[in-house]
Amino acid sequence: MRIIRSVRELQELADRERGLGRKVALVPTMGALHEGHTSLIEIGKRHAHAVWVSIFVNPTQFGPNEDLDAYPRTFEADVAACEAAGAEVIFAPTADQLYPDGAQTWVEVDALSEPLCGASRPGHFRGVATVVSKLFLAAKPHYAVFGEKDYQQLAVIRRMVRDLGFDLTILPGPTVRESDGLALSSRNRRLLPEARRQALVVPNALAVAERTFASGERRKAALLELAKREIEKAPLAEIDYLEIRDPDSLEELPGEISGDALIALAVFFPASDSGAPVRLIDNRVLRRPS
Ligand code: PAJ
Repeated sequence: MRIIRSVRELQELADRERGLGRKVALVPTMGALHEGHTSLIEIGKRHAHAVWVSIFVNPTQFGPNEDLDAYPRTFEADVAACEAAGAEVIFAPTADQLYPDGAQTWVEVDALSEPLCGASRPGHFRGVATVVSKLFLAAKPHYAVFGEKDYQQLAVIRRMVRDLGFDLTILPGPTVRESDGLALSSRNRRLLPEARRQALVVPNALAVAERTFASGERRKAALLELAKREIEKAPLAEIDYLEIRDPDSLEELPGEISGDALIALAVFFPASDSGAPVRLIDNRVLRRPS
């Protein structure tokens, strides 16, 4: 396992790999790795000769009152997890490698960044798009793997790759869940134990909406009301957003849904430390039977 800290060194390795005709898949992460992340490494391995994992807690995607300081950092365990999953390289740059002193260049994906997480986290997707661009320029990968758990992030990155003409293919990875249905997240470990129990309402709300959609309900308000009632079963839960939108454009849908629909939500739960509350996100695409 090779751990690389500098952009230059990674670019040189990328050039050597390309010279040898080897294809590289990059899995960008912020560390605190779990099986959701390692499932992306597996997907990378199916497409490329080598999988590289980046580990960087990107400060520019956190707002002033968010959990940057409380974000879990478990580098030793992450290295072991990458090794076990078969990654060849970990790129763990220092902040000055990605943001040289006085950096003032940003990548913004307009409309797709506005609703949902973008509305409650202003500037978040600008930070994500910017750091992911820098990671792409450093690793020059043939593939990059992103999880569907962060649905809007995946949509933003896909659009950015298309709009800027990055020469790589984005591979999506399905959401990996705990046995009880809660989506794996680095943030789960900060949950108060009672909040962890109650957090089950998040996947349950999506499941209720999905079942009801499958049985023919097409009224957006009715589906949202059912999902909301499910969340309200958890006294510790505080809804940030709960919305149904177009799965491609992320635009609002009419009251009566005619095609597929994305249901997405973000819910706050109390943390076990004294830091910012834990914000969990999840989503599901409600598919019309074909
Ligand atoms: P992070 O939250 O560490 O997630 C890294 C990748 O793992 C993302 O593509 C995310 O969607 C995926 N992932 C997280 N939980 C998952 C799960 N339960 N199942 C499947 N995939 C999952 O997302 C980021 O970091 C950052 O925004 C980043 C893209 C690295 C830019 O800083």
